[in-house]
Amino acid sequence: MNSAIFFFFYICLFYVNSTMLVDVVLGCSFGDEGKGKVVFDLLQKNDYQLCVRFNGSGNAGHTIYKNGRKYVVHQLPVGILHDTVFNLISSDCLVDISRLQKEIEILQNQGIDIQNRLFISKACHIITPECIEYDRANNKVGTTGSGIGPTFSNKMLRIGKRVEDMKEEFDKMGIQIVDMRKFWKSYFIQTHVHSILLEGAQGFELDINWTNNYPYCTSSTCTLAGAINTGVSIGDIRNIIGVSKIYDTYVGTMKFQPEGDEDLIKIGDHGHEYGSTTGRRRQCNYLNLDNLIEALQINQCTYCVINKVDILQELNIFKLYHMGECIEFATWDEMKSYIMKALDFVELVFSSNPYEI
Ligand code: IMP
Ligand code: MG
Repeated sequence: MNSAIFFFFYICLFYVNSTMLVDVVLGCSFGDEGKGKVVFDLLQKNDYQLCVRFNGSGNAGHTIYKNGRKYVVHQLPVGILHDTVFNLISSDCLVDISRLQKEIEILQNQGIDIQNRLFISKACHIITPECIEYDRANNKVGTTGSGIGPTFSNKMLRIGKRVEDMKEEFDKMGIQIVDMRKFWKSYFIQTHVHSILLEGAQGFELDINWTNNYPYCTSSTCTLAGAINTGVSIGDIRNIIGVSKIYDTYVGTMKFQPEGDEDLIKIGDHGHEYGSTTGRRRQCNYLNLDNLIEALQINQCTYCVINKVDILQELNIFKLYHMGECIEFATWDEMKSYIMKALDFVELVFSSNPYEI
């Protein structure tokens, strides 16, 4: 090949590679931070062609309001609610086929069509009824009872069933099975995708490795590592958006909410802190800034979105923990300045909550 042509191809190749942009949204606390809302807003404001769920399963619940109508997705990426966006469920996600069928059916009844828009990795593991039964019968940590732990056990024992073993079921649902080793180089990606949004489930404090509260955690990788495990090029990652709330919540059997604190009860009531998957009341505590800083730094976040600030504003309760102490502020402005100073290494976005998360 003559050198001019070679140079031309080299430039084209460089151009193609360098124009892929990847943003990541991940949870920086115990899940329920409002990641779904952030993902939905980002998809609406930017031109992403592909939305990828990189962890979690039916244990997650993302509640989205679109044109005043409520949608809940559990296993599906939030991008499914945007009819111009393609969606992928990647290998670390687990799949409960019958619940996925129901989820798709409900969305179809709400006018959302998934046909030709949904891909799934052939390596995703299938949650079986036995796994759900085991999860529910041996539930010391207060799991969502979705069969997560037992299915991950089977995956690690290498005795699990995977999407590739149940091809018919996915064909019937109109979901295209893909081999992740080939997907990113596929004709589809080359021709349709130049901007990708990776969407995490749960959060840093529930991560199987990073939790401070083992075994009160989930079984998956909820961090940037999980996002990278989709196989996107690390160099293409642009924004890493860590999501948190202005107060912390947790669902499970671990003692989390200090007893007798009226303010925390008010926060739970006013914030409608009930799980979107199980309906359980979420335990509340004040924002732990030390933990949030660790989550943002370990995930190398460029942005931090802090949701539900209006809940504290409306209640006039301005407290957080930092350096092991509970600090109280007289006004929201004081609390805001304090947080801005402590989190000066990221772009901060304070967000109000026009609806339930
Ligand atoms: P599992 O993921 O169902 O095994 O549950 C393990 C722990 O993680 C329990 O405390 C659950 O309440 C919590 N958990 C799992 N998924 C979510 C979520 O999406 N939001 C909040 N908590 C979750
Ligand atoms: Mg949730």
